[in-house]
Amino acid sequence: MRYGHFDDKRREYVITRPDTPLPWINYLGSTAYFGLISNTAGGYPFYRDARLRRISRYRYNNVPLDTGGRYVYLRDDRSGAFWSPTWQPVRRDLDTYTCRHGLGYTIIESSCEGIEARLRYFVPLDDSLEIWQVTLTNRRAEPADLSLFPSIEFCLWDAYDDAANFQRNFSVGEVEIEDGVIYHKSEYRERRDHFAYFACSGAIAGYDTQRDAFLGPYRGWDNPAAVERGACSQSHAHGWAPVGVFQTRLSIAPGASESVIVLLGYHENPRDDKFDPPGSQTINKRTVRPIIERYLDPAAVEAAFDRLASTWDALVGRCQVATPDVHTNRMINIWNAYQNMVTFNLSRSASLFESGVGRGMGFRDSNQDLLGFVHMVPARARERLLDIAATQLESGGAHHQYQPLTKRGNAGAGSNFNDDPLWLVLAVAAYLKETGDWGILAEPVPYENQPGTEAPLWDHLERSIRYTLDRLGPHGLPLIGRADWNDCLNLNTFSDEPGESFQTTANRDGHVAESVFIGGLFVLAAQEMAAMACHRDGADAGRFLSAADRMTQTVRQHGWDGAWFLRAYDDFGDRVGSATCAEGQIYIEPQGICVMAGIGLDNGLARQALDSVRERLATPHGIMLHQPAYTQYYLHLGEISSYPPGYKENAGIFCHTNPWIMIAEAMAGNGDRAFDYYTRINPSAREDISEIHRCEPYVYAQMIAGRDAPTHGEAKNSWLTGTAAWNYVAITQWILGIRPDYDGLRIAPVLPGDWDGFTATRVCRGTTYQIAVRRAGPGNTVSLEVDGQPVEGDCVPWTNRESVSVVATVR
Ligand code: GLC
Ligand code: GLC
Repeated sequence: MRYGHFDDKRREYVITRPDTPLPWINYLGSTAYFGLISNTAGGYPFYRDARLRRISRYRYNNVPLDTGGRYVYLRDDRSGAFWSPTWQPVRRDLDTYTCRHGLGYTIIESSCEGIEARLRYFVPLDDSLEIWQVTLTNRRAEPADLSLFPSIEFCLWDAYDDAANFQRNFSVGEVEIEDGVIYHKSEYRERRDHFAYFACSGAIAGYDTQRDAFLGPYRGWDNPAAVERGACSQSHAHGWAPVGVFQTRLSIAPGASESVIVLLGYHENPRDDKFDPPGSQTINKRTVRPIIERYLDPAAVEAAFDRLASTWDALVGRCQVATPDVHTNRMINIWNAYQNMVTFNLSRSASLFESGVGRGMGFRDSNQDLLGFVHMVPARARERLLDIAATQLESGGAHHQYQPLTKRGNAGAGSNFNDDPLWLVLAVAAYLKETGDWGILAEPVPYENQPGTEAPLWDHLERSIRYTLDRLGPHGLPLIGRADWNDCLNLNTFSDEPGESFQTTANRDGHVAESVFIGGLFVLAAQEMAAMACHRDGADAGRFLSAADRMTQTVRQHGWDGAWFLRAYDDFGDRVGSATCAEGQIYIEPQGICVMAGIGLDNGLARQALDSVRERLATPHGIMLHQPAYTQYYLHLGEISSYPPGYKENAGIFCHTNPWIMIAEAMAGNGDRAFDYYTRINPSAREDISEIHRCEPYVYAQMIAGRDAPTHGEAKNSWLTGTAAWNYVAITQWILGIRPDYDGLRIAPVLPGDWDGFTATRVCRGTTYQIAVRRAGPGNTVSLEVDGQPVEGDCVPWTNRESVSVVATVR
């Protein structure tokens, strides 16, 4: 069953009923002012940091689930009837409804009582505000007298305190109302130099700024007293809950339309020029007024929207494909690229499943997110790499997370996740392959943001490698630390205290438990270091290669279980992810990463591991993380066994890991299997089972419930997941095989057998590659013609020509 359809031409997903199984969301904003918006206008914006600079209030885990938003009420002033043109929060039946989620904007259209409404929400590229464009058309035979009430409930900035510290909150709320603009200025009197504003282009018939004056006692957002009554009360918030509400009256002739622009913005003033006049407590509005005036002009709004649209054209235009599969095309050309941008911007901070108060930017997460983003805006990827590296510790280890606003490591989230530093190597390698910007390796970057500790980025990478080598366990495999990629495999935690953090508690010394996964990751990273070293001066290449070889031998010797790669050794030196275990006998992660590192490709182990995955882990909904699921809590395994069987890390289909198997299958030459796995979790290919999948069909979710769960096939935690970047890498670089490398653009497809080829456009290092791949035989051997000339091998050497045409024949 579907709840809408793709409109690929407009690059939109069109939702055709408001009561989707879960709120289906989109994101607004691209650099500093961000927001999420649901298909019924729920959600909230924030400036840079979803916790520390939350602009409007959202009530997570409420009933209904999606509570708080950019709500607009329409009232028929003759009959008194009122409704929400976005369905929520009034939830009165609408005669028609569609929501179009597009790249950086959302349009909700509906009709009710003969009034058509169209609301377009977006954030202009370079300003810190969002625009709600409301257009109403009267389809009645007689004139319509309407009141429009746009509304927003302000958050008192720190979203965590806002939801917890009421003894203070109920007293600090402050607003100013001037020239028809509502300014939210809580805490501006003291240490904040920023405020929010709410403005409306319509003639203002009334306003409210105190929530309970607008709603009325014992009422919710679904039936505000002021809307019912048809009049605001010009309330002034002193403490309690500041809101912005305007009432504007519109008389619309039959067949005519009226438009109103609503602005919600964030603004900062220079600290020494906060007040006007100086010495007063009144906000200096000279700096913000021109911005407000500009965007209340419809022509400026159209121009801003057009700029947003053409920016997205260019961004997705950097990689476009035409394959025989519509789901592949749509994900690569539109949605997966878009999701990559969102994960790059937001890491795991704010979604319907991430409350924005819990997590900053993840060290390993952001490095992996970059893999799917680097081709879109390499300059931002560069900046991000330097930010991440600056949070690295002198030991080579990493803060597991950092706060985007301060760019400082978050001590509360801990460190010693022993895989973390290696991801930096992979991300820098991806950046170098994409750009050829070797200068980045010489950039001075501090450790732990401490001035005076600056060292070239290359030094950071070396320390990442050394960090692993300094921490080898009894079998010569890397010690796992708090956890490796799998945050929930906590082999040193041994926690029996309810509520204690599985990630930051350690009751063991950590000198025994080892990770085969980190072993594989290390080999991959050390190989990249060797390749980078070759390009620098060749000096250390041999050292990195022999470290990779040694680890490969160790993994073969101590990390192979007989029919698949072992997962780990626990604190007792016992096997995890072994046929000898009662539960959790085979895990997906080492099968993926070890094969990706090339381990076992030459001697049949890789094939055997991948066959075991197929036999034991693959389901029609994707590949499970391990089997059998843990049916009880194991003190020595930690959080993984805390989840009920089939969910999350306990044998859920943790989608992030599936593309590793796709890549491994492609490396092993099996295009059919790689593509089959790709299709199983491709959200577009799952659109027809939306009632089972339940999350958005246009983006990946972190998890799909595994076979052991009663809700097998149900997705959760959509949007902010490493699944986005890795699936993009798997399909574009390994299945379609268009893979930037140090020396050129590799074209090495491993396609499904029944494809006769595909075409693609890929922009890289200033050159546009027009690529045509054609199948002439059943294998994966490629011969290339570049601008009509045969080229040896499968790599198109980098060039400074503007455009290059490549024909690849696969036999
Ligand atoms: C979440 C975390 C990620 C981790 C994964 C597996 O996606 O953000 O860092 O690797 O879970 O535990
Ligand atoms: C990861 C896991 C999640 C776990 C969390 C702890 O995100 O996906 O299951 O609870 O890490 O921080």
